[in-house]
Amino acid sequence: MSEQFDAVDIITTKRDEARLSNEQIDWVIDAYTRGAVADEQMSSLAMAILLNGMDREEIARWTAAMIASGERMDFSSLSRPTADKHSTGGVGDKITLPLAPLVAACGVAVPQLSGRGLGHTGGTLDKLESIPGWQADLSNEAMLRQLEDVGAVVCAAGSGLAPADKKLYALRDVTGTVEAIPLIASSIMSKKIAEGTGALVLDVKVGSGAFMKDVESARELAETMVALGTDAGVTTVALLTNMQVPLGLTAGNALEVRESVEVLQGGGPKDVVELTVELAREMLAAAGRDGEDPAAALQDGRAMDVWRRMIVAQGGDPDAALPTARETHEVLAPADGVLTELDAYKIGVAAWRLGAGRARKEDPVQAAAGVEMHAKPGVTVRAGERLLTLHTDTPERFERALDVLDGSFTIAPEGSRPDLLPLLIDRIAD
Ligand code: URA
Repeated sequence: MSEQFDAVDIITTKRDEARLSNEQIDWVIDAYTRGAVADEQMSSLAMAILLNGMDREEIARWTAAMIASGERMDFSSLSRPTADKHSTGGVGDKITLPLAPLVAACGVAVPQLSGRGLGHTGGTLDKLESIPGWQADLSNEAMLRQLEDVGAVVCAAGSGLAPADKKLYALRDVTGTVEAIPLIASSIMSKKIAEGTGALVLDVKVGSGAFMKDVESARELAETMVALGTDAGVTTVALLTNMQVPLGLTAGNALEVRESVEVLQGGGPKDVVELTVELAREMLAAAGRDGEDPAAALQDGRAMDVWRRMIVAQGGDPDAALPTARETHEVLAPADGVLTELDAYKIGVAAWRLGAGRARKEDPVQAAAGVEMHAKPGVTVRAGERLLTLHTDTPERFERALDVLDGSFTIAPEGSRPDLLPLLIDRIAD
């Protein structure tokens, strides 16, 4: 079959800083998905896009072409509106766990298609899989049934959604082209739009533990994604939030489930509670239910009731003991003073090296591995006090985790104050 375009012409168009036409974009995504454009050609085009960018119209068309490569889900038969949240990924980011049942408890259905972790950020499915019996894989019919009956589903994204993105993301991962804002935005939004949610709240992380290390690039990514969602008819809002420091006091699968349950019981760390409630408010407002008070639903046990039903519906036992690590190692404060820095990236890498994360897609993870923090920036500590507890089933991992933790925290003289961004940095809406 003769092809409509030549891949080399498309690559050189972008290399020479010109716009790609709608037809070129449609063709190159389709041809790459079916194997008519080779990996080396697509990686060259991805690099040209990383270097020369795409305008709003090109990004919208690129996203639409990726959506068209697969199936679209449809939640219009549900009796309540839908809202979803997407985080660009961070260390200790367990927010989906309390958030999905909380929003469902306030009358909005949450279809949360999630992934497994790769690298130093954990994956929501890995966390939930530490609950005995819990299953990530659901058919589309089972997902729809659970959304109607329980109101919240967190499950694995099927292979049918945006298959072009699956192939392209794997290629970008090994060709140094992950960081292109047009490619990140279209990758995330193609999956969220294909998923069929009516409203979407984006949690765009900023800081060492995030993709976006500074506020300016996070704002550009957020604005690009909000425009894509809005143009596709999805009510989309983004919050820029701090990822200089890990969220909460735990990073690791079962450790994060334990902390999420504390939040659902009305306790838990202040930052996790604050972000959960703020994201819930945004999701409810975007879905047209801003009369509900998520803080009350967290305190009075309604969110906990939905959590329990959500876990049971996917085969899990919400009362089962969570796995605990065979070995622990404590890191102590070397001096008196104020903890002013606790580096999210280094804590994330330590949790990963302890066994909480994977280096390759097919690697197993340890449910109980991770890092527990006993203090967060701003707290006064005494020499010899516990700062961190490292958890693993394989103690030979302690040494490499401790290597990366070298320099991960700063203790400054008493009276010092941390110089950090606020938890909620900015809000972006169209
Ligand atoms: N997450 C995605 O789904 N895609 C990207 O490109 C980056 C993060």
